[in-house]
Amino acid sequence: MYGSATLVMNEKVNSMWEAGKNVYHFGFGESRFPVHPVMADALEKSASKHSYVPIQGIKDLRQQVSKFYNQHFNLTSNENQIIVGVGSKSLLYAVIHSLPGDVILPVPAWVSYKDHAELNNRQVITFDLDRGNGFQVSIDALAKARAQATPGPCMLVLTNPNNPTGTILSKENIKAVAEYCRKNDIVILSDEIYSLLTHDGFTHTTPAQYYPEGTVVLGGLSKILSLGGWRMGVAVVPEGEIGNQIIDGFRHIAGSIWSCVPAPIQYASITAYEDSSEIKNYIHTCGAMHQIRTQYLYNQMADMGIPCASPQGAFYLYPNFMPWAESLKSKGVHSDHELSLHLLEKYEIAVLGGSEFLDNPDQYAVRLATSYIDAESDEAAATLVRAYQQNPNPNSFIQDHHPRFKAMVQRLGDFISSVN
Ligand SMILES: Cc1ncc(COP(=O)(O)O)c(C=O)c1O
Repeated sequence: MYGSATLVMNEKVNSMWEAGKNVYHFGFGESRFPVHPVMADALEKSASKHSYVPIQGIKDLRQQVSKFYNQHFNLTSNENQIIVGVGSKSLLYAVIHSLPGDVILPVPAWVSYKDHAELNNRQVITFDLDRGNGFQVSIDALAKARAQATPGPCMLVLTNPNNPTGTILSKENIKAVAEYCRKNDIVILSDEIYSLLTHDGFTHTTPAQYYPEGTVVLGGLSKILSLGGWRMGVAVVPEGEIGNQIIDGFRHIAGSIWSCVPAPIQYASITAYEDSSEIKNYIHTCGAMHQIRTQYLYNQMADMGIPCASPQGAFYLYPNFMPWAESLKSKGVHSDHELSLHLLEKYEIAVLGGSEFLDNPDQYAVRLATSYIDAESDEAAATLVRAYQQNPNPNSFIQDHHPRFKAMVQRLGDFISSVN
């Protein structure tokens, strides 16, 4: 079925829920916390904005976004370098459309990049992130991928913090990648949609700091403010030729297909990018809740002996079930996809198999998104926020407010017992 694997899984789980079935939904990376009242108010006040607005985005918003990136990531830009798109997906597609060359993807790679490349008839070249080294980029592996690409300029997509692994590329690694790309005619598409959701002790580094003339930064409000349905994405493009090519390509696509991001969403989004302590605190609070929930599952899986990189940002875990490969095969489970079906059918746990992220199916890797559980309804999500604000102690937050999460962990334990 066409459509991103994550959206397809979400639709499947929703129809199972509608049919009265129980499913623990770890298959969809949607941040579920409530719309902050300040944002809801801003949208209400913008309801009367009914005219078409500039294709690239309204100037006030672009100015604010430029300031925001400067303040948070020390990235210097002006409003002409900012593009506002229908979610960052539309921008990723438009950037690939606008620039020449093949698309290099580190694996595991988020589900949509390959589609963005293929919809643009681009060759995709993959290389493995270094599993033994916290899913960092090995420059040797990148160089091998570069050698396979058609000579001339090409693109590399980096996701940091990473979906599906929940890991972060270190500052040194980012610097080395940026330097390699500069020397080898590679434009970096730096997907930084989770950049404000780093866990304690980890910080986000953008390659634009080291390679501003060849890095496109992508972000938006979907993950940091739980506003996925607003479809509000941004790109910060380099000054000069590369940036101009992207802006031209974007204007061609957006001007012919969707004209502009809905005007009320753009006006309201100015508030999100303003230097407001209320919004900053809310992003921080949501990040802290994601961290506690993700860390909880990581600790539980570690107790069960499930191999998994420790989480450093976003709300994902990417364990593998290789230690149980033989036992799984004896049960007729021969790939990560079959494992995801087995977990859903027998244990009511929805996950995505690693091959959706271009991983090798016999790695038996799956991605668990911790963002949905116990926040299935808006009311449940609002209750979680209130509970955390009253008592941010991680233990009580999980023990007192996450009944479904605890039930899922029990189920996962039953699964491990069945294959041990
Ligand atoms: C790594 C990554 N990039 C981009 C997106 C798309 O976000 P948007 O809602 O801005 O299109 C997602 C959403 O799941 C994501 O995980």
